Amino acid sequence: MDKFVIRGGTPLRGTIRISGAKNSALPCMAAAILTEDEVTLENIPDVRDIETERKLLASMGAEVELGYGRAHHRTRIRCASLDPVAKYEIVKTMRASSLVLGPLVARTGMARVAMPGGCAIGGRPIDLHIKALQAMGAEITQEHGYLEARAKRLHGAHIVFDKITVTGTEDLLMAAALADGETCMENCACEPEVTDLAKMLTSMGAQIEGAGTATIRVQGAERLHGAKHRIHPDRIEAGTFLIAAAITGGELTLTSCNPEHLSSVIEKLREVGVQCELGPDSIRVHNGGLLRSANISTEEYPGFPTDMQAQFMALATQAEGTSLVTENIFENRFMHVQELIRMGANIRVEGRIAAVVGKSPLSSAAVMASDLRASASLVLAALVAEGETIIDRVYHIDRGYERIEEKLRGVGAKIRRIGNVFRETEEPAAEVTA
Ligand code: UD1
Repeated sequence: MDKFVIRGGTPLRGTIRISGAKNSALPCMAAAILTEDEVTLENIPDVRDIETERKLLASMGAEVELGYGRAHHRTRIRCASLDPVAKYEIVKTMRASSLVLGPLVARTGMARVAMPGGCAIGGRPIDLHIKALQAMGAEITQEHGYLEARAKRLHGAHIVFDKITVTGTEDLLMAAALADGETCMENCACEPEVTDLAKMLTSMGAQIEGAGTATIRVQGAERLHGAKHRIHPDRIEAGTFLIAAAITGGELTLTSCNPEHLSSVIEKLREVGVQCELGPDSIRVHNGGLLRSANISTEEYPGFPTDMQAQFMALATQAEGTSLVTENIFENRFMHVQELIRMGANIRVEGRIAAVVGKSPLSSAAVMASDLRASASLVLAALVAEGETIIDRVYHIDRGYERIEEKLRGVGAKIRRIGNVFRETEEPAAEVTA
């Protein structure tokens, strides 16, 4: 099992290029199911979840070519014919696999998708996907751990999501693109990843209005065609590096990012005392002084992202005063707390609220990554901890961050990977965050 060994105490300085967004790339790859033509996606991040999605599509009979480096992080996908079954062996390692449900039933009239079991950050059901597909005429049954959806052709419907769901909105957007008639979806997720998917679907011939707002209207098409689409920058990767600069008292310039997508994070960083200068596609972040406490409360976009909560908490341990961190999206997303406490943090959790009292000197410890974003918070804490921190189970971080240790080393961090080689090691036993 790979581990990171991190020696803290070096302020980070330099430039980091932000990769493409994993959470955009995953639905955009699933959208390739909607056409028998070839789809090309650029700026695909080199992370484990993308490899899992490649495997998933290939296991259903898709031709998937995925190339990095000189191949410019590009994937070409052709779903000429499909066996519409998403196997448990793959679904269990990545909950976002449920994104194939809508497009499969829309394209082939049938989908068999393994139910994605429990996960470390809460129950994470897919009942809202199911209910909406039923409203579009799908018959859904559940047997032997698989969900089976059938519909000769999905029809347009008026869908009101009971709760805002990102992948639910994306799943139904894809289904509606090939349905018969108009679908109106209300209480949709407004996340930039939904907008990116809508852009890709539009270039495939779909007619979509309102993506990025709570109400989306889709005129279903008989057929969609191939397209080329460039995945937008990863706002969570960028946010994580903003905090890396802030927590180490350093100065970083992030390039190829979209500052607009990070407004709520940047606002909080400024409140804490960190300076951020925004360019059209870059951010310069600088922390030369004392950090002040600030409260955050996770919300749907454009609110403070739950995917940045753990990283902000690491920063709050280094701020003077008490910061209250409220997690509203997931029921069990404080697993990083115990590990941060082992490194010397002063944090008390009551229900959905964590009170972080700073500033606490952190010291190295052997800690364990428990999910994708929790692992990122441990890396951040280790960058300021005294001594050498060893983070175990870094396969969690490899799921969503492209070569994080290389990027951090490039700006002065003392971080190395030990253990077996990335990608040839163990598969995680169960999925954790998407
Ligand atoms: C996506 C992101 C993940 C992020 C999350 C919230 C991807 C691949 N993953 O996850 O990184 O943390 O959005 O921004 O894009 N819910 C239901 N029933 C459903 C679906 C969701 O009750 O059918 C609940 C969930 O349990 C959760 C809330 O709705 O409490 C939001 O979940 P959702 O937006 O669906 O998260 P994901 O799309 O899985």
